Amino acid sequence: MGLSGRRVVVTGASPGSLGAATARVLREWGADVVVTTRTDPDAAARAIGDDVVGRSLDLTDRDSVAAFGDWYDDRSGAAGLDVLVNNAGIHLDLRSSWHEPLRTADGHEIHWRTNYLGTMQLTHGLLPALARAAGRTGDARVVTVVSKLHERGRNEFLFNPLTPYNSWDAYGLSKLALVHAMTELDRRYAAEGLSAYAVHPGSVYTNIADRGLEGHRLLTGVRRLFAPLERRILVSPRDGAQTSIHCATAPSLPSGYYRDCALTTPSPEATDVEVAARLWEETGRWIVAA
Ligand SMILES: NC(=O)c1ccc[n+]([C@@H]2O[C@H](COP(=O)([O-])OP(=O)(O)OC[C@H]3O[C@@H](n4cnc5c(N)ncnc54)[C@H](OP(=O)(O)O)[C@@H]3O)[C@@H](O)[C@H]2O)c1
Repeated sequence: MGLSGRRVVVTGASPGSLGAATARVLREWGADVVVTTRTDPDAAARAIGDDVVGRSLDLTDRDSVAAFGDWYDDRSGAAGLDVLVNNAGIHLDLRSSWHEPLRTADGHEIHWRTNYLGTMQLTHGLLPALARAAGRTGDARVVTVVSKLHERGRNEFLFNPLTPYNSWDAYGLSKLALVHAMTELDRRYAAEGLSAYAVHPGSVYTNIADRGLEGHRLLTGVRRLFAPLERRILVSPRDGAQTSIHCATAPSLPSGYYRDCALTTPSPEATDVEVAARLWEETGRWIVAA
């Protein structure tokens, strides 16, 4: 597929991740690709391919997100941004051992802050660049990697503390919020040529579980032992990236929730458009209150 002239940002593209696999294919197909990681973005970019640009981005840090948005805005000029792939994310405490949430420096639950708020601040910051590309080509896109686990999220906890706390529910809630955000983004901007996709990649062998088990030496050791088996059961990053790549590139693709490269229906909670609109408004207030 020829993507020459298409400008793409892929967040969370560390070696071995879905983001790296996504960026690699988009670059192979000719796109101008910028990737982000928190640590050593240049090395991550080099590992992905020639002429891939790496940039540091920490979604939990307002200044870092704002700096990335400003830098990209300058870099892209009148051409703007054709595709934003919101891929970066975390799923911590896979053992559900936390009874209280781990909070970021600014007081938010860690999954909510990283996966949802940080991603939304970035998306809002890049909207002007996306709008410029949409105005030029009529086809700009935001592709956001969510998870089937959004089904664990409940709309009431989008606006109230999650009780009792469970890290899987917190992860699911952050992904439910992102599904709502893609619905609302499409409702607001589709007429301007900006489409929005929420993507479940499947169960993929990446670094996410290592991070989710950090601090548990026994479990980490057992997991290492069974890594060859796990690799056979789970999907490879390249295969897992296919739905993101499809949503980033397939011509005339309707907005919505995708898995296995097909449009499908998210959880009933995720289809409440009034909740999506309310969440967008509240998130917008949080973003401008910086
Ligand atoms: N793997 C699966 O089975 C699966 C299933 C469903 C959904 N997902 C979703 O797929 C996406 C990609 O995950 P993955 O499986 O590829 O995991 P991964 O290998 O752990 O990659 C996650 C990426 O996110 C970045 N990241 C983490 N915290 C960040 C922060 N605060 N700010 C900016 N970037 C941050 C990491 O950068 P650093 O390395 O620099 O920290 C890394 O590049 C995530 O949104 C995840 O929720 C994965």
